[in-house]
Amino acid sequence: MNSQLLYSRLGSALLALAGLLISPGPAAGAQARTGADDAVGADKRTVLITGANRGIGLEFARQYSEAGWTVIGTARHPETAAELDQFAAKVMQLDVTDPSSVDRLAQDLTETAIDLLINNAGIQPLMWTLAELDFDAYEQALAVNTVGPVRVTHALLPHLRAGKLRRIVNITTNLSSIADNKDGGFYGYRESKAALNMFTRSLAAELGPDGFICIVLHPGWVKTDLGGPQAPLQVAESVRGMRGVIDRLAPADNGTFRTYSGEQMAW
Ligand SMILES: NC(=O)c1ccc[n+]([C@@H]2O[C@H](COP(=O)([O-])OP(=O)(O)OC[C@H]3O[C@@H](n4cnc5c(N)ncnc54)[C@H](OP(=O)(O)O)[C@@H]3O)[C@@H](O)[C@H]2O)c1
Repeated sequence: MNSQLLYSRLGSALLALAGLLISPGPAAGAQARTGADDAVGADKRTVLITGANRGIGLEFARQYSEAGWTVIGTARHPETAAELDQFAAKVMQLDVTDPSSVDRLAQDLTETAIDLLINNAGIQPLMWTLAELDFDAYEQALAVNTVGPVRVTHALLPHLRAGKLRRIVNITTNLSSIADNKDGGFYGYRESKAALNMFTRSLAAELGPDGFICIVLHPGWVKTDLGGPQAPLQVAESVRGMRGVIDRLAPADNGTFRTYSGEQMAW
């Protein structure tokens, strides 16, 4: 290193130290942001979120963009996703049940490395008894909640391999837990998310050796169109919690099932 460069680096280090000593610290109520989550000033990270036009997906887009990430948000109808447009660098069309839509997304992103994929898009048919089963609704739940994330992950794997973080987060539900299912009901929803959990375990086993961390996350019972107005959790709090969990992921977490507050769930 030449002496000019050495002095300039020493100067910067001293300035940074002085800044630390006189910094008043975060303002009251401000969120402390550390590590991989704070992409401002560091390498910009890229997250792709499915179903990002409303609910939990939209809030992921809002919070990641506020934290300085490059957000790619997908919507079935981008022309009506005005709110997402405010936070996302790109709003892309995606219906996870449509193979040509998934292929187009992967092709349009050919040159784009993705650090974090959040398979968030999901539906919850409400069928409580066998007598109430509607097989079209049942199959649609499997198509959106299980086959959809498998298809999207398969198509975007080259983009994720090109990323630095190599994280895949599949949004599940506590209702997918076989161990916890004492009450039944939620036909179609429980099974489709339990299959997503199993897919995630297989992904974790296959991709873990390549440095990937693949998990399923339960967002809590959240006030969205899906969760309903009686849900106790605000969407901002759920997503803040899930971002914290994602930010703290270590290799030992690969293949785990966690809640938005970081607790391990029984499979
Ligand atoms: N809210 C809760 O209490 C709760 C609890 C546990 C788990 N979850 C899970 O969290 C995730 C997000 O739920 P949410 O509460 O935010 O639900 P939401 O408000 O109903 O939003 C669902 C999102 O998924 C999209 N979507 C539905 N079908 C799709 C398809 N075929 N292709 C692409 N996108 C599709 C929707 O797009 P459109 O606007 O085009 O329909 C919308 O953007 C889901 O996986 C859900 O199972 C939610």
